[in-house]
Amino acid sequence: MSEQEIGNGSADFVVVANRLPVDLERGPDGSQRWTASPGGLVSALEPFLRSRKGAWVGWPGVPGVEVDPFSDEGMVLYPVTLTADDVRDYYEGFSNATLWPLYHDVVERPVFDRGWWESYVKVNRRFAEAAADVAAGGATVWVQDYQLQLVPSMLRELRPDLRIGFFLHIPFPPVELFMQLPWRAEIVRGLIGADLVGFHRPGGAQNFLWLARTLVGLEPSRGAVGVRSRPGMMQVGNRTVRVGAFPISIDSAGLDGLARTKQVSERAAQIRHDLGNPKTVLLGVDRLDYTKGIDLRLQALHELLQEGRVKPEDVTFVQLATPSRERVEHYQRMRSDIEQMVGRINGEFSRVGHPVVHYLHQSVSRTELASFYSAADVMVVTPLRDGMNLVCKEYVACRHDLGGALVLSEFAGAAAELTSAFLVNPHDLDGVKNALEAAITLDPAEGRRRMRALRRQVLTHDVDRWARSFLEALGTETTS
Ligand code: ADP
Ligand code: F6P
Repeated sequence: MSEQEIGNGSADFVVVANRLPVDLERGPDGSQRWTASPGGLVSALEPFLRSRKGAWVGWPGVPGVEVDPFSDEGMVLYPVTLTADDVRDYYEGFSNATLWPLYHDVVERPVFDRGWWESYVKVNRRFAEAAADVAAGGATVWVQDYQLQLVPSMLRELRPDLRIGFFLHIPFPPVELFMQLPWRAEIVRGLIGADLVGFHRPGGAQNFLWLARTLVGLEPSRGAVGVRSRPGMMQVGNRTVRVGAFPISIDSAGLDGLARTKQVSERAAQIRHDLGNPKTVLLGVDRLDYTKGIDLRLQALHELLQEGRVKPEDVTFVQLATPSRERVEHYQRMRSDIEQMVGRINGEFSRVGHPVVHYLHQSVSRTELASFYSAADVMVVTPLRDGMNLVCKEYVACRHDLGGALVLSEFAGAAAELTSAFLVNPHDLDGVKNALEAAITLDPAEGRRRMRALRRQVLTHDVDRWARSFLEALGTETTS
């Protein structure tokens, strides 16, 4: 789309998400630059939307800024302004201290605050109005994630001509937990404004259908929902709402290609060299979030070292942790616990110039990330609950050499697909320790067998397939 074409009512395909794919960063000298936004939603959707030349409505990541719409390599970005109060109440509050812990098995206690709810309603309306302004007549609008669950119904009221999809990027909780939410019926009513409501797993879809019956009195179909097949259906007025399961993925071929470059293989060798060429490099890559089980993997490593099952001179554990939601109390506590554990392990087991744990509280570039994945012998992914988890798929996509081993929590959505990983129950510390030890001492032929099976899955089920299957079920795309 050219600059002249950026304007209201001009987009045939619109993504609406809390964040734009880029964040505005302001330097102390007043300078401004755009950087990649954190998280799996952006990693997955950005390559797809660029190829599609769509529009993206979202927040630029800092409070109180007004930015005009602009083009960015094929996409048109429409910034939505959030005030400092909106960020506190809608984003940090209701989205990330109420819904996030509630939807992740109440790993932390959700806070139910009426003021935050009011802010959530108000900000959802603002996003719905922005989407209604941007979308052309009869356009497809794809609303994303837990921050915007009221947008589908609000948007339908404003623009009944649109085809509206909704996808939840995080787990949808068991009904017993969802029923704790004081605004549970409002959320279900918000979502059924969509023509298609998508989840990662059939279980989430099934839970939602039960809630629609119990809280809104609808009569959903009763058959089991399949993966990318057999969506549930219910009649809402004169519309049919479909409810399905669509496991998200990554740009597998893009990452595979990047990992094959000389730049990445040389950088991977350099990383191993800089780490002192240990026998085994273990790697964790996460947003710094209490759902990711970073503390559990550190504890498992600590005990393996204490028991002498792993020798400190043989292993190096690298944890890359993107800063996340730093003003939310749950996150502040978790960060300090993790940093204490890193200090403790290093205090007990490191030698001068050779820390056992390298902890980087920072984001790295895609090329650097691919280099870390290529350098790591064991990838450790241990969330207590995760909608999908893209990191494990990224690791697999980078291992064209069939090297490396993946230790993966059963409670990540990806576990249903990546069954050749070392699957662990993260609550079972002994089980995690055993899996780590097995991955560290893995026979290379067995490792290649496992990695080949993992790669078959990841390379054939990429983000493009995810998006196409969702849009086909929404009825806006035909099979090519
Ligand atoms: P979530 O959406 O909860 O953050 P995912 O695993 O689905 O979890 O997605 C995380 C995304 O963020 C992945 O694409 C991963 O590569 C990226 N990421 C995580 N940590 C870092 C880091 N330290 N530097 C750069 N990218 C990171
Ligand atoms: O799906 C996980 C998710 O919450 C996305 O919605 C979000 O964009 C990402 O993680 C990062 O979180 P945040 O936007 O709160 O920094």
